[in-house]
Amino acid sequence: MNIDYDQKIPNNVELAGDKVLQRALEHWQPEFLSWWREMGPEGSNGFDVYLRTATSVDQAGWAQFGYVKMPDYRWGIFLNPATPDRKISFGAHRGEPAWQEVPGEYRSNLRRIIVTQGDTEPASVEQQRHLGLTCPSMYDLRNLFQVNVEEGRHLWAMVYLLHRYFGRDGREEAEALLGRRSGDADNPRILGAFNERTPDWLSFFMFTFFTDRDGKFQLSALTESAFDPLARTTRFMLTEEGHHMFVGRNGIRRIIERTAEMMVRERTDDPARLRACGVIDLPTIQRYLNFHSSVTVDLFGSDLSSNAATFYTTGLKGRFREERIADDHVLKEATYPILDVSTGELVGRDAPALNALNERLRDDFVADSIAGVEAWNVALDKRGVEFRLVVPHKAFNRQIGPLAGVRISPQGRVVTAAGWEAHVREWLPTAEDRGFVQSLMGRVVEPGKFANWISPPSAGINGQPVECEYVRFN
Ligand SMILES: [Fe+2]
Ligand SMILES: [Fe+2]
Repeated sequence: MNIDYDQKIPNNVELAGDKVLQRALEHWQPEFLSWWREMGPEGSNGFDVYLRTATSVDQAGWAQFGYVKMPDYRWGIFLNPATPDRKISFGAHRGEPAWQEVPGEYRSNLRRIIVTQGDTEPASVEQQRHLGLTCPSMYDLRNLFQVNVEEGRHLWAMVYLLHRYFGRDGREEAEALLGRRSGDADNPRILGAFNERTPDWLSFFMFTFFTDRDGKFQLSALTESAFDPLARTTRFMLTEEGHHMFVGRNGIRRIIERTAEMMVRERTDDPARLRACGVIDLPTIQRYLNFHSSVTVDLFGSDLSSNAATFYTTGLKGRFREERIADDHVLKEATYPILDVSTGELVGRDAPALNALNERLRDDFVADSIAGVEAWNVALDKRGVEFRLVVPHKAFNRQIGPLAGVRISPQGRVVTAAGWEAHVREWLPTAEDRGFVQSLMGRVVEPGKFANWISPPSAGINGQPVECEYVRFN
């Protein structure tokens, strides 16, 4: 499935054959570009950046590399090829043909799901817009820009669905996606984590590790959707999400490698001494990890949710890897364990599985995060450092759901308000931590040079050398 780049809006959905839709999207396009100029990466519009662009959605064509000025990036509409005779794999419509149009009775729920997903895409670009000014290397700057243009394309993917399938209110929602602003008091982004600041590169790497991983799980659940255009578009978005998580995974690994190197050289694990050497001590990295893990875990929503049950039963949103799960895919009688607080401790209790689907997706996410963090521990181990990074308990620092009212340590113990106050400086980044990390953020853009607090990557992008001039400032 090749993408038609001769058109104003590159696409593989035969946009030229639908003049009304084409006109509507061509009207939205300049609004998107003016949003990009205002809220995209600061001061970057003239740069030539070594970026990948999709020219088709198959293995060979989805990543074509070349120098592009970001406002000229070919944002467009790409769907994975349709699976012939695809059947719905779960819920009340299990076994029926997947929908090519939106059923009237599910219209508002589907629109809400698409808008909520769509809103996160420009939000993350806004959160990251100042980071280019303090990049630790040209290689990292390029990766930041790659993530940003692809989040822009993810917005296009959701806006296409809104325009194509939801008529006038879809067009209004598409406009509103360019109107909200991350962190804005009057018109914020929809979900909490997307209104947090991403003020430094440690936060950025943690965000791409955890919050883009939330993206992976949400998108995976949507690839199961009975609404086939949503399933196909999210499937293609997932291929791009993999790179975003790579940026986080490798970014943090390079930071801890540098710290470990300094710990061995200086024979110390004293945070103050390590900070004096200009590297980030591991307890500070753990606190950032705790923060990003906990705000991301909240994105999965309340432990028990009747909306989640409705979305599943009506076929709008499935489970992670639905088809690999051995059960009836209807879940009317099934149960799933959730957490409650009883006599001062966290205890598991069985809840109706349909209502606990957020919790289940959250658990899938946590297991995936733990596996990712283990790879960092292997890197520490290799360098002879005993410290272990740990994913905090999923009940830690919650702001959403019944656990929001309870204070729980990263190890999953219920603590009193006084107990929380006594330890919170060990568990979450302090103003002092943030100030220290901020103090390290200076701009390094000479090809092949890296800031002192991070190791170079082991390889460059697309077979290019690490010291390649990935960004030409002109
Ligand atoms: Fe995205
Ligand atoms: Fe992403």
